[in-house]
Amino acid sequence: MKLFGNTKVVNNEIYFNGISVTELSKRFGTPLYILDEKNFINQINLFKENFASDVLETKLIYASKSLLNLYIAKIIYNENLYIDAVSVGEVFTILKSGFDPSRIYFHGNNKLKEELEYAIKEKVGTIVIDNKSEAYLLDKLLSDDDIQDVMIRLNPGIEAHTHEFITTAKSDSKFGMSIYEKETLNLIKYLSENKKFNFKGIHSHIGSQIFEKSSFFKEIESLCDYALNLKNLGIQVREINLGGGFGVYYTQNDRPLDLKVFLKEYIKYFEEYILKIGLDVESVAIEPGRALINQSVYALYKACLEKKCGERNYLFIDGSMCDNIRPALYGAKYEACVANRFNDSKEELYTIAGKCCESGDVLIKDIELPKHQEGDLVLVPSVGAYTYSMSSNYNKNLRPAMISVNEDAKVIVNRETLEDLIKNDLF
Ligand SMILES: Cc1ncc(COP(=O)(O)O)c(C=O)c1O
Repeated sequence: MKLFGNTKVVNNEIYFNGISVTELSKRFGTPLYILDEKNFINQINLFKENFASDVLETKLIYASKSLLNLYIAKIIYNENLYIDAVSVGEVFTILKSGFDPSRIYFHGNNKLKEELEYAIKEKVGTIVIDNKSEAYLLDKLLSDDDIQDVMIRLNPGIEAHTHEFITTAKSDSKFGMSIYEKETLNLIKYLSENKKFNFKGIHSHIGSQIFEKSSFFKEIESLCDYALNLKNLGIQVREINLGGGFGVYYTQNDRPLDLKVFLKEYIKYFEEYILKIGLDVESVAIEPGRALINQSVYALYKACLEKKCGERNYLFIDGSMCDNIRPALYGAKYEACVANRFNDSKEELYTIAGKCCESGDVLIKDIELPKHQEGDLVLVPSVGAYTYSMSSNYNKNLRPAMISVNEDAKVIVNRETLEDLIKNDLF
């Protein structure tokens, strides 16, 4: 199993910045989400340093849907990044953290009227328009004095090789407007001619957990060619946002790009391509979520009971699909270890399952671990993205606490309480 960041094995036990998992479990309980803050900041810096250009501005936008709370938003702001949001709830959380609204990009294929009103009222910097009806609605909601920065989400029809649920730019995707439709051009003309809009540019996001460079390069060509087409029609594209999607390591089957190398190639490809076709843009943005946060968060569970069912040997943990739905949703795979006995010989084949009343509530099928002993702690790395942010209270399970380990460890999101479960119930 791969360990990342500031984790170490000392006397057969995993330590986070000098604190053992046993101590963390005693101080904060389990299930526990652990943010390795230094590693997160290092990863942000890796992006900043390598996606940099001398000829145009580069922007790093954190895709907040991957993991968002006040603490994470504050880190993102302090590191001088931009942030994206796709709902009023995300915008609200981001603003509550003290974030400058002008640094927010507001996405979403179905922004509700109230959400757009909220974004206008709070002076959200950029609204990324997904479709025609949204543009007309926004026009109606803006007053004659408003000038709203907008971009348009384009669908370049690139099929990135990833799970069907996380591809977003196939021709029949629900996101954005196809670059092949005349209607898209008409909408852009309308946005660029309307006094209430400041048309900034174009955006696309071709999917998530992508490992092939070629998909990203194809996207650059496709968006830049489209921008050139617009330039020839007298419409200036000042910003191109290439979205996120950089694949990460979960298990040995994943072959992530070496970001230190790839991000340099990526920006160079962009610079050379716009030079080649004679396009001038002021800024280029990327919008990673998973590749920024995933490897800086671990889930720590208590291994509770064991049960043999025919050939299958279940090891039940005190978490579930409520805190990590990805295996049930996409068949996602993870590695894990018994963190308090890291080097013990792995003589049992277990299926790690959660406590929900769903047969699909299985975190890892067939994993070799040491024979279960009371007090064992199961640690799952690479759970930063799309886990806690997709969490639920199914079966009235409580959401775990989240801590940050830096010099010391501190709670950044409280564990839910039983009272939280009924706080909105009236009768
Ligand atoms: C518009 C947009 N931008 C960025 C992202 C982030 O993707 P990832 O976490 O794969 O980098 C997503 C993810 O769904 C998205 O929809």
